[in-house]
Amino acid sequence: MLDRLQAAFAGQREFLDDVAHELRTPITIARGHLELLGDDPEERAETVALVTDELDRMGRYVADLLVLAKQEAPDFFRLEPVDLGDLVTDALAKVRTLADRRWSVDEAPASGAVWLLADRERLNQALVNLVANAVEHTGAGDVVALGGRLVDGEVRLWVRDSGPGVDPAVRERIFDRFVRADASQAARPGGSGLGLAIVAAIARGHRGRVEVGEAPGGGALFTLVLPHTDDDDPTEEVA
Ligand SMILES: Nc1ncnc2c1ncn2[C@@H]1O[C@H](COP(=O)(O)OP(=O)(O)OP(=O)(O)O)[C@@H](O)[C@H]1O
Ligand SMILES: [Mg+2]
Repeated sequence: MLDRLQAAFAGQREFLDDVAHELRTPITIARGHLELLGDDPEERAETVALVTDELDRMGRYVADLLVLAKQEAPDFFRLEPVDLGDLVTDALAKVRTLADRRWSVDEAPASGAVWLLADRERLNQALVNLVANAVEHTGAGDVVALGGRLVDGEVRLWVRDSGPGVDPAVRERIFDRFVRADASQAARPGGSGLGLAIVAAIARGHRGRVEVGEAPGGGALFTLVLPHTDDDDPTEEVA
C-alpha cells in the first residue's frame, strides 16, 4: 500500500517537474525579449509577435494538460451513437486545409452503415492530433490518409502518412507524456510531446487502444482500435 502511494507521489512529482520545465522555457524566452525591447517600431512588432507566439504555445499546453488531467473524471467522455463513415469524411474535410498534402480517404463505410458508441468530439480531437503529427513529418506532395473499418467486432480508425515513419525502437515510448522521439525535432517550437498521450487517453476512455505500425511504403500508421457493440445503431428501434 505504502509502496503504491510512494510510487504515485513519485509519479506526480516527476509529472510536475516536467510541467514546470515545459512552462519555464517559453516564460524565459518571452521575458528575455521583453527585457531587450527597444524603441524601433519594427523590432517592437517582431517582439510582440514572438511573445504572442510563446503565450499561445503556453495556452495550448495548459489546455492539453487539462484534457489529460480530466480524462479520469467519469463524465469526461460523452458517449453517443457516432456514424463511422461520416466521422472519417467529416474529419478529412476539416483537416485538409492544414497543409498542402495529398489528402485521401483509404476507405470508410457508407454513411449509416456502421455506428459506434463514442464521444464524437474527443474522437475527432484524437484524429486531429494524429493528422497534425502526420503533417509535421511529411512535406508537400506526401500522402496523408484517413480510414475507418469494422473488423471482427472492432472499429479501426486510422491515420496514415508517407513520411519517414516511426522507428520501431521508440514505438512503445511515444505514447508517454512529454516524449518526443526525434532528437532533431527537439528544437521545434510548439511540440511538447503531449499529442499522442492525449490520443492514448481518448482510446482508453472508449475502452480501446491505439496502435502504431508501418504503412505500406514505410510511412507511419496510427490506428485507434475501439470496441463495437451491435446495439449502437440508433436507426434500430429501442423498445
Ligand atoms: N506521423 C509520424 N511520423 C513520424 N514520427 C511521428 C509521427 N507521429 C508522432 N511521431 C513521433 O512521436 C513523437 C510524439 O508525438 P506527440 O504527438 O506525442 O508529440 P509532438 O508532436 O512532438 O508534440 P505535440 O503533439 O505535443 O505538439 C513525435 O515527437 C515524433 O517523434
Ligand atoms: Mg503531436
